[in-house]
Amino acid sequence: MISGLTFNSRQRNAFRKSLLNWYDVNRRDLPWRQTKDPYRIWISEIMLQQTRVGAVLDHYRRFLDRFPDVETLAKAREQSVLAAWSGLGYYRRARNLHAAAKVVSFERGGEFPRTAEGLRELPGVGRYTSAAIASIAFDEPNAVVDGNVERVLSRVTGRVELSERETWTLAEEMLSRERPGDFNQAMMELGATVCLPGEPKCLNCPVIALCKTRGSQPTRKKEQRVSREISLALPRKEGAVWLVQRDKSASLMPGMWELPEISANGRSPEARFKHSILNTDYNVSIYLVEEPGVNGCWIATRRLSRTALTGLARKVLRHFSLI
Ligand code: ADE
Repeated sequence: MISGLTFNSRQRNAFRKSLLNWYDVNRRDLPWRQTKDPYRIWISEIMLQQTRVGAVLDHYRRFLDRFPDVETLAKAREQSVLAAWSGLGYYRRARNLHAAAKVVSFERGGEFPRTAEGLRELPGVGRYTSAAIASIAFDEPNAVVDGNVERVLSRVTGRVELSERETWTLAEEMLSRERPGDFNQAMMELGATVCLPGEPKCLNCPVIALCKTRGSQPTRKKEQRVSREISLALPRKEGAVWLVQRDKSASLMPGMWELPEISANGRSPEARFKHSILNTDYNVSIYLVEEPGVNGCWIATRRLSRTALTGLARKVLRHFSLI
């Protein structure tokens, strides 16, 4: 038992109450918080893995306009799903989403499993996502642990050394059984808006009275980032652009369409962009050309919005008003 060393049951109750009262007043008005529909909650939780709320909002709305229910998603072509995912990165999430929609739609009559255990059988749904969906959509008392929750728990308890298993156990012990979905979202919200990685805003914290560290605990070192220069061509002709498809077996963004790489040869670029993928920050130079490359093909500009473009390709094509 971990809580015996940290909080007794009276303190745990006080923690839940303060956190939930704070959440009721301060929670951000996010679109997936206005629904109990497991489909919409599932989409939000998959998008929010590895991606900030601010970067998800627009994609979330567009994705649901295009695929308003699980049947529509199940029946879509993979390229359309990837196209709607373009810009969010980590494209395996989109392929799994598509595969899981087919399972729910074709094998389960469109009904989502109502428990975390059942949800975990779907492609791309692990411990975190299954607990998040089951608690938010179906009020099943399962705690979630993501990076934000882990930081909140380690600061509040002052226990930096907790293993992953201990952190999950602690989260389960702290969980509100009456309002598990709100409790989980409140923990994530606290981590995202108050108990920040760099400088926590302890003066705004609803659980400061119970916190063992109050901002004194150092946070993890920042990950190492790498910079890279790349030069890309944008071959154009009337009504079409030349794009290259990434290898279908590539580990990153397989099968997606991008601009061809070229050597710059001292020319000055038409435009420059900054673009980050995983831990790499790219400085991208774009050169307008008329000659197509060796690999690739012409793609009509009217088809671009339905093409599975990489996030960078989409950014560049938008800049030149081609989509
Ligand atoms: N991160 C992932 N899911 C979230 C949610 N429902 N609320 C806040 N942050 C989240």
